[in-house]
Amino acid sequence: MPGINSSLLRHLKQPERFAALDRVARQGDRWDGRVFRVSNPSTGELLAELPDMGVEQTRIAIDRAHVAQAEWAARTARDRSDTLWRWHQLILDHTDDLAAILTAEMGKPLPEAVSEVSHAAAYLQWYAEEANRIYGETISAPSTDRRMLVIKQPIGVVGTITPWNFPASMVARKISPALAAGCAIVLKPAEQTPLVAGAMFALAAEAGFPDGVVNLIYASDGAAVGRELCSNRKVRKISFTGSTEVGRLLMRQCSDQVKKVSLELGGNAPFIVFDDADVDAAVDGAIQAKFRNAGQTCVSANRLYVQSGVHDEFAAKFTARVRSLSVGDGFEPGIAIGPLIDTQALVKIEAHIADAIQKGGAICCGGRQAGHGGTFFEPTVLTDITSEMLLAQEETFGPLAPIIRFEDPDQVVREANDTIYGLAAYFYASNLKRVWHVAEKLEYGMIGINTGRMSSEAAPFGGMKQSGIGREGSRHGLEEYLEMKYLCMGGL
Ligand code: SIN
Repeated sequence: MPGINSSLLRHLKQPERFAALDRVARQGDRWDGRVFRVSNPSTGELLAELPDMGVEQTRIAIDRAHVAQAEWAARTARDRSDTLWRWHQLILDHTDDLAAILTAEMGKPLPEAVSEVSHAAAYLQWYAEEANRIYGETISAPSTDRRMLVIKQPIGVVGTITPWNFPASMVARKISPALAAGCAIVLKPAEQTPLVAGAMFALAAEAGFPDGVVNLIYASDGAAVGRELCSNRKVRKISFTGSTEVGRLLMRQCSDQVKKVSLELGGNAPFIVFDDADVDAAVDGAIQAKFRNAGQTCVSANRLYVQSGVHDEFAAKFTARVRSLSVGDGFEPGIAIGPLIDTQALVKIEAHIADAIQKGGAICCGGRQAGHGGTFFEPTVLTDITSEMLLAQEETFGPLAPIIRFEDPDQVVREANDTIYGLAAYFYASNLKRVWHVAEKLEYGMIGINTGRMSSEAAPFGGMKQSGIGREGSRHGLEEYLEMKYLCMGGL
């Protein structure tokens, strides 16, 4: 039988409140008895067995959302805003338990999980506010007998698919603007990390969303659920965060119905340190941009380009800091690097290191599994890296920092742009002319200038090229869930 295991409940302050997460997604639905397992990547312990939903249950959830949509859209903006505010408060009130669930199922250090939950709450707060600020426009008509205007309306039912690396904040970042706009949603969280989404949905029910407005699908077969969301005509938009490969597939599946998509996909972020940079600040920024979430973020610095004049100083200071990062179970105090999500992630990082060494790269620190059992890997710094190496071309998604020496500032920008990706880039420099020049030349949706962290509910998050379509966060994130309707009144 499905259920939440004591190995999870012992981490919670209010276990009774979250003990029924196995039921959150199947209330009223026809569940056929199949289950799937969720385990702690640090210890391998079983955390939960969840009802495994398939195409039929996804259809039921979509039908329910379709019915609820009309009623939710007809409410006042203030009413939708108030419900989001209540959910925001409940998330804040239960931060400790949500963070513990997140660390247990995903592995990130507990302080990072706490910070992610507050980031999730910040999205709910932001869109509770934005719900009241949906404006249309009037247009000066070209003839006196006409009036022309534009109104904004919710797009309809939205299918959302969220990743395992930020299992709380991605849920909030996707569904809070949709709900603020007046859309009903169906969410499929990553099969590795469905529990914190379940806990957030349990709190959403307490916040008072009407039946059918928020729907959760626990499922191990993400492809089948994704296909149904893309092909079901009642779903008017898909919002997905994950790999570029899956993003392409979903886009193809949506093309038959010309369904709208928002896609937040892979990256290959350059992190450039120019000779005029503050090297200590650049080291701090690189630690954040590379090692947050053990390097498992799509905005993670993947290639560190450092100009010759500061290369050796940067490499020495950075390596010393990396050596001090402790690896282990995210519940232990002082841990900076948790486990990788699975063994495939270990295989990829090892392949990137082997390829680099074979082509002339040198290990400054790390380079091996971290020997705690589980999927831990030592934070690693490599130098003597060239653009031909795999790790400069593909996203590693792990705690591996390759340093590439460069001489020519124009050439480094060309190299940084020489990728199919365009999500995030970072650079450190002090010369204002250079700052503007580089910021304008980099082909990325988000640029961190003298900072290693830029994600914020107030800013538009998203990429260019094959890193995605659309933006999340800020007022722009709300527009993604609104249709523009032009009204032309004649005979006046
Ligand atoms: C990501 O989407 O991988 C990064 C999210 C964040 O920086 O908050």
